[in-house]
Amino acid sequence: MPFTLENVVPWGRSFDEYVRMFALTEDDLNKTILGCADGPAAFNAELTRRGGQIVSCDPLYAFPSEQIDARIREAYPTVMQQVQANADDFVWSRPIPDIEALGRIRMSAMQEFVADFPAGLIAGRYVAAELPTLPLTDWQFELALCSHFLFLYDGLGAEFHQNAIAELCRVAEEIRIFPLLQLDGRRSAYLTTIIDELQSTGSIAEVIETPYEFQRGACEMLRIRVAAASRPIAR
Ligand SMILES: C[S@@+](CC[C@H](N)C(=O)[O-])C[C@H]1O[C@@H](n2cnc3c(N)ncnc32)[C@H](O)[C@@H]1O
Repeated sequence: MPFTLENVVPWGRSFDEYVRMFALTEDDLNKTILGCADGPAAFNAELTRRGGQIVSCDPLYAFPSEQIDARIREAYPTVMQQVQANADDFVWSRPIPDIEALGRIRMSAMQEFVADFPAGLIAGRYVAAELPTLPLTDWQFELALCSHFLFLYDGLGAEFHQNAIAELCRVAEEIRIFPLLQLDGRRSAYLTTIIDELQSTGSIAEVIETPYEFQRGACEMLRIRVAAASRPIAR
C-alpha cells in the first residue's frame, strides 16, 4: 500500500524514552546514528542539540511540516482514546503514571520534532525514505535504531522483515530494534527465524532486556552486531 499522510498515525517518543528503550550509554550517543522510522519522535532534535550525529529516515518526511503538524493534532485525540480504552495493556508508572502524563510527554516530543524539522531537513538530518530500501551508503552508521515499526506491525510480512533487516545490516554496524512484540501483545512470529538467519551469516543477534516498559511485556530489544565478513571494504 502506498504511504499517505491520511494512513499514518503520527506518534513520536521522547529522547529519554529512546535512551531507555535502546539502553543507550554515553558511548552509544557519541556514535554516528541512524534512526529508522523515527517519524515525529524528538530523538533527532534532542541528540543534535547535545552535539550528536544522527540521520532519521521515514516516509513521513516527504510532507511539509505544516501538514505533518496538522496530521499530528488530528490523530492525537483518537490515539489517546484508544490508549484509554485499552489502559490495562500498558504499565502506568513514572515517568508515565497516567494518561495525562502520556499526552503531555508525547505531544511535547512531537512539537519538539515539528520545530526542528525544517532546519533538520535542510541539514540532511531528516531523509524521506522507506524500508526496505534506504538511500544510504554501506555501513554509513555505527548504530541504527528502529523503534515501534519492525516486529510491531506483523502485517508487513516475513519477507518485508527479512529485507528490511538486511538493509539495516547493510547501512549500519550495529542495529537495535524495539519492541519485539506485535500490536496484539504477542512476541513477533518472525523473531526466531530472523535471529537464526542472522546467526547463520556470522552476525551476533541477541535479545536484550531494556529498562523501558510501557506496552505491557515490551521490555526487550533485538541487538544485531553485523558479521565482520559482511563488512564493506571502506565506509
Ligand atoms: C509508530 S511510529 C514510531 C515513531 C518513532 N520511531 C517512535 O517510536 O516514537 C512508526 C513510523 O514508521 C514509519 N514508517 C511507515 N512505513 C515505513 C517504512 N516502510 N520504512 C520506514 N518507516 C516507515 C511511519 O511513518 C511512522 O513514523
